[in-house]
Amino acid sequence: MSSLSSRAAAIEPSRTIAMNQRARDLSAAGHDIVDLTVGEPDFHPPAHVREAAARAISGGADRYTPVAGEIALREAISRKLSRDAGLAYPPAAIMVSCGAKSALCNAFLALAGPGDEVLIPTPAWLSYAEMAKLAGATPVFLPTSAADGYKPLPEAIASAITGRTRILVLCSPSNPTGAVLDRAELEAIAAVLTRFPEVWVLSDEIYERIRYVPEVPSPASIKSIADRVIVVGGLSKSHAMTGWRLGFLAGPRAVVAACVAIQGQSTTCAPSISQRAAIAALDGDQSPVEAMAAAFKARRDRAYARLAAIPGIKLRSPDGAFYLFPDVSSLYGLSCRGKRIESSDDFCLYLLEQAGVALVPGSAFGDDACVRLSFAASDAAIDQALGRIEAAVGALRSAGVER
Ligand SMILES: Cc1ncc(COP(=O)(O)O)c(C=O)c1O
Repeated sequence: MSSLSSRAAAIEPSRTIAMNQRARDLSAAGHDIVDLTVGEPDFHPPAHVREAAARAISGGADRYTPVAGEIALREAISRKLSRDAGLAYPPAAIMVSCGAKSALCNAFLALAGPGDEVLIPTPAWLSYAEMAKLAGATPVFLPTSAADGYKPLPEAIASAITGRTRILVLCSPSNPTGAVLDRAELEAIAAVLTRFPEVWVLSDEIYERIRYVPEVPSPASIKSIADRVIVVGGLSKSHAMTGWRLGFLAGPRAVVAACVAIQGQSTTCAPSISQRAAIAALDGDQSPVEAMAAAFKARRDRAYARLAAIPGIKLRSPDGAFYLFPDVSSLYGLSCRGKRIESSDDFCLYLLEQAGVALVPGSAFGDDACVRLSFAASDAAIDQALGRIEAAVGALRSAGVER
């Protein structure tokens, strides 16, 4: 058989999706599994958004749209960016994509290539590294620490930048840590970046509406670097529209034009029905979005309190997004029922097989001390999962080191 491309051989499949698939397979085989792997709201999109989609279908919105997206949607995104983040992007500086993922992928392809480095503070959503590799570039990881709130320190960024660095990825609120960069922290990062004018900032703001602090500032609102920031956003998380595949990017016109050229040769455009629905989502009543964010906050508090009370588990309460990222490394070295835990993968496998709870190992995000728990799930599922985790960790601690 002919071989695959070196690019395909280098790509790692998503480990979150792999863990989710494993949980689904076990459920399908009749096992009782509580799945807290996937980062998608368990709500439905607001009613007025679904109605707009239904109207788009009956009104015949069947055709390709402009590659950059319907002008009415780009106008709505322009208003949204101004209203929510104080950013002034005209529709010509905005491109609509098939989810934030596609917007990010287009940006990597437009900005980085062979010989270039992409600087990724970790723990991070590992699609960044895989997308950088798809573009032919080399991902370079910059570890952050729990003690620093999992935020990249300006001088650490400066030390990690080389003559080849083309992109610094920022994700605030962060998946998986929930860390939010405040204005002073962004200004300090911007001050360092003024020494490196060749470096673009790719700012993933997909979780910006799911926050538990008053403000999530965009790096594009910092004047000294605004002209080299590419803002990526979307409706997947804010409006519970993961399957509708609607994201966008905004940035310097030359970058947006390059992304439009790439998208024109790959996906063509985001789905026409979803684009019409997105106009309603962005211009319409925002109270359902706020209600979902309030529900996530209540779940965060509930899940955090229970998890923090389990001996052997350390964690921070996240400032945004819908994940807890507990450090479980104090349990490494323990064994129970013949299973020895040495890593986040072992711990997740132990929980899945012995307790029927599916989480994602921190190794998938570049931090093997931790695991990721999504609280984008019902209160009942969260309570059930936490009860099982308490019992499974208790069993592990009392079994101790079986030799
Ligand atoms: C940090 C981050 N960025 C982007 C995405 C992708 O969003 P979308 O579903 O709009 O492609 C996700 C999805 O999990 C994410 O966690």
